[in-house]
Amino acid sequence: MSKIFISCALPYANGPCHLGHLRSTYLPADIYARYNRMIGNDVLMVCASDEHGTPIAVKADNENIKPIEVSKRYHDMIADDIKSMNISLDNFTRTTDERHYDIAQNFFLDLYNKGYIYKKDITQLFCENCNKFLPDRYVEGICPVCGSEARGDHCEKCGRVLDPTELEDPKCLTCGSTPVIKDSYQYFFKLSEFQDVVENYIDNNINLPPNVRNYAKNWLKEGLNDWVLTRDMDWGIPVPLDEALGKVIYVWGEAFLGYISSASQWSDETGIKWEDYWNDYVVHFIGKDIIYHHSIFWPALLSAYGCKMPDNIYAGEFLSLEGQKMSTSKNWVVWISDFVDQFDPDLLRFYLTINAPLNKDTDFSWKDFQRRNNDGLADVIGNFLHRTFTFTHKFFDGKIPEYKGPSDEDMEFEKLIRELPDKVGEFITDYEFRDGLLEIFRVCKLGNKYFNDQEPWKAVKENPQKAANTLYLSNQLAKTLAIVLKPYIPTKADAIAEIINIDIPEKWDEAIVPLPAGHEINKAKPLFKKIDDDVIDAQIAKLNETLKITEEKEDENMSDIITIDDFDKVEIKIGQIKEAEKIEKSDKLLKLQVDIGDEVRQIVAGLAKFYDPEELIDRKVAVVVNLKPAKLFGTLSEGMILATGESGALLTPDECEIGERIQ
Ligand code: 2FM
Ligand code: ZN
Repeated sequence: MSKIFISCALPYANGPCHLGHLRSTYLPADIYARYNRMIGNDVLMVCASDEHGTPIAVKADNENIKPIEVSKRYHDMIADDIKSMNISLDNFTRTTDERHYDIAQNFFLDLYNKGYIYKKDITQLFCENCNKFLPDRYVEGICPVCGSEARGDHCEKCGRVLDPTELEDPKCLTCGSTPVIKDSYQYFFKLSEFQDVVENYIDNNINLPPNVRNYAKNWLKEGLNDWVLTRDMDWGIPVPLDEALGKVIYVWGEAFLGYISSASQWSDETGIKWEDYWNDYVVHFIGKDIIYHHSIFWPALLSAYGCKMPDNIYAGEFLSLEGQKMSTSKNWVVWISDFVDQFDPDLLRFYLTINAPLNKDTDFSWKDFQRRNNDGLADVIGNFLHRTFTFTHKFFDGKIPEYKGPSDEDMEFEKLIRELPDKVGEFITDYEFRDGLLEIFRVCKLGNKYFNDQEPWKAVKENPQKAANTLYLSNQLAKTLAIVLKPYIPTKADAIAEIINIDIPEKWDEAIVPLPAGHEINKAKPLFKKIDDDVIDAQIAKLNETLKITEEKEDENMSDIITIDDFDKVEIKIGQIKEAEKIEKSDKLLKLQVDIGDEVRQIVAGLAKFYDPEELIDRKVAVVVNLKPAKLFGTLSEGMILATGESGALLTPDECEIGERIQ
């Protein structure tokens, strides 16, 4: 018997769970865990909600509440979502738990004391308007590598981890100003020292699936740079060094330890050592977007700490929705809670598994979901079971008949049933969850064919033993199904077992122990129903409504046309530049004093590349006078001078009076 440590990537506590989380991470982990428990392995499966990081802090700012209130709200929702999908976690904790703080701070200190973490002066983006540094997702801009829109620390498009100062055209997420670069210091992890260690790990770990290995190898080719492990923020785990007041450990420097703190909490509750599981076999189930973190950062951190690296990392590729990328901000998602309000959770578990292998991107579409349910679950598996149970009652008084003198067809079918558990088991062991389910399906289809070919409804009169053999074997397959379906669709599997009148299946081996002749089964009831068109149409209509609202909003936001009221909001006046000087350390900015009629305003303008300060004195200019004041390079600016972007040419309203408003 092996001990297996299974972890599911920690969901950020900034929103509930949707289908994407389930498909990439929780569902495959659960299938793997349930199967391994059934074959007698000792499994510890843990997870936690990931409560730190800038998205949660930004959300809290927007809602004017504390980050812990945001994370508590979503932690509870996520816990309900996971439970409603019957994900059989042994423990689900949170990263604001005191134990997690201790573990994360001790881990940090250990690496610091060993010299793997060091302090370094750096420059960082700073918003002078908000008066704060802009770590990670507090800033948006353009990815310097692929040119897509990126948030602070990470480009979703090319998957790279970024330093926010590398972003092109950065903007403060809170107020929209362009941040400045300011000196600070942070603590760095010596990731560059682990290039060889990580390369060896990736090359020699034969378990790693191709997608994880290939991504990691490509990144390793670029060479590993040291990794900044702290942030200037209030929200997070404080850096455990007196000298580092106001700094917290970067969320990715502590979230991994959620695996350990969740397991350690479980150990305290059960008195069983989690370390034995880790040391035997550890597998992380994650989504494709965090392969970099798990295949590079995490092994390096573990190696620095002196701990065994993961035996396997399993990464589910992306799930789109009706052919479009899922987007929580546009509400282009199906939330788990909405799904389970309407449907049995097992239907989703079935669909998300059969739809595509884990290592391929795939799509959720309501029509396809309906088709897979109606033509697959209901027509193939449901139909086979229903016929078996109703015929057993009709012709054999609800009792398993005697099996005697089997025909060639009987023996062939019997062999299929006997071999099924091993075949499915092998697929699950190899993380080929879909193939396991397809195999079950194949045998069920053959079961339906066998039933049709044997025509027990006729045979019962003409050759009763033939009908008895058919129903005997069909019931044996039903029993096998109750077991092999259990990792995939656990509540339906239990419902099958209930009709067959056996204990809830817990051991894989039981699949090949035949039901004895004379065993009485319970009354048949339909287990898998077809889903009607109108139910699916309602779901599609709901999604389309979301799309319509989003498009309308986008139209409003993106439209080039503005109303006269919009224009009226902008107050442009004629001003005259009275003084102009360079701003120290900036090659773009000039500090100007501009007479706008009733007052003289200080304005910082990006004109230094186009004009010497002296050239500007007495020039008449158009000035936006009702712009929110902002600080640029520490200098207050109370307006904006209009000029063309490319050449910096000023609009020169020489014939106008100073203080006149442009209408
Ligand atoms: O990307 C994410 O959703 C992270 N919250 C995953 C963390 S997994 C691990 F490090 F704990
Ligand atoms: Zn700002």
